[in-house]
Amino acid sequence: MTGVFITFEGPEGAGKSTQLARLVQRLTADGVAHTVTREPGGTELGTRVRDVLLDPQLTIDPLPEFLLYSASRAQLVANVIRPALGRGEVVVCDRYADSSLAYQGAGRGLEAALLDTITRAATGGLTPDLTVLLDLDPVVGLERAARRGQPDRLEQADLIFHRRVRQGFLELAHRTPGRFLVLDATQDQETIHAAIWAAVHARLATTA
Ligand SMILES: Nc1ncnc2c1ncn2[C@@H]1O[C@H](COP(=O)(O)OP(=O)(O)O)[C@@H](O)[C@H]1O
Ligand SMILES: [Mg+2]
Repeated sequence: MTGVFITFEGPEGAGKSTQLARLVQRLTADGVAHTVTREPGGTELGTRVRDVLLDPQLTIDPLPEFLLYSASRAQLVANVIRPALGRGEVVVCDRYADSSLAYQGAGRGLEAALLDTITRAATGGLTPDLTVLLDLDPVVGLERAARRGQPDRLEQADLIFHRRVRQGFLELAHRTPGRFLVLDATQDQETIHAAIWAAVHARLATTA
C-alpha cells in the first residue's frame, strides 16, 4: 500500500469537518489524488448504521454501540479505504478507530483489550499514518455543536462523559506521539489549517 491515511479526531464541535474540508480543498488545488470519507458512514451499510447510532429515540448499550461502529468500520476499510490506499491516494477520514477507544473505552468504560481485538478484526490492523486530534474543552465543543441545530444522541450525553472522552483522546496521543498531531481547537481556523497542512505536506514528501 502506497497511499497516505489521515484521520480527524476530537469532540463534537472541535472543527473536524471544517478542517477536513479545508485540507481537501488544498489537496484538490495541488492535484493530489484523494478520497474523503467519514465514520460512521462512507458505505451503504455505514450510512444505515449511522442513522441507527445517531437516532435520539434509541438507547443503545455500550457493547452493541461499539459493535455497530465496528461493523461500519469493517465495511468502510474493506470497500473504500484499502482500495483507495491501494491506488496510492491520500485518504482523509472524519473519525476512525480512536473515536471508539475514546468514546466507548474511556467514555463508556468498555475494556481496552476487547476494543483492541475487535478493532483489529474490523480494520485488519490498518492504522492511520497521521491523526489530527483537535483538542477542545467539551463545554466549548457542545456550545459550537448546539449552534448547528438539533443535538443528536451523543451531544445530549453528560459533561462528565465528555471529559472522560477528552482524556481518552489525549492519552491515545500520548501513547503514540509519532502518529498524532494534537492541536488546540480554540485557535483560529487559519492557524489550525496551516499546522495541519504542514504535517500533511511533510508526510506526502516522505512517501513521494
Ligand atoms: N477554530 C474555530 N474557532 C471557532 N469556531 C470554529 C472553529 N472551527 C470550526 N468552528 C465552528 O464550530 C462549529 C463546529 O465545527 P465542525 O467543523 O462542524 O466541528 P466537528 O465536525 O468537529 O463537529 C461550526 O459552526 C464551525 O464553523
Ligand atoms: Mg463534523
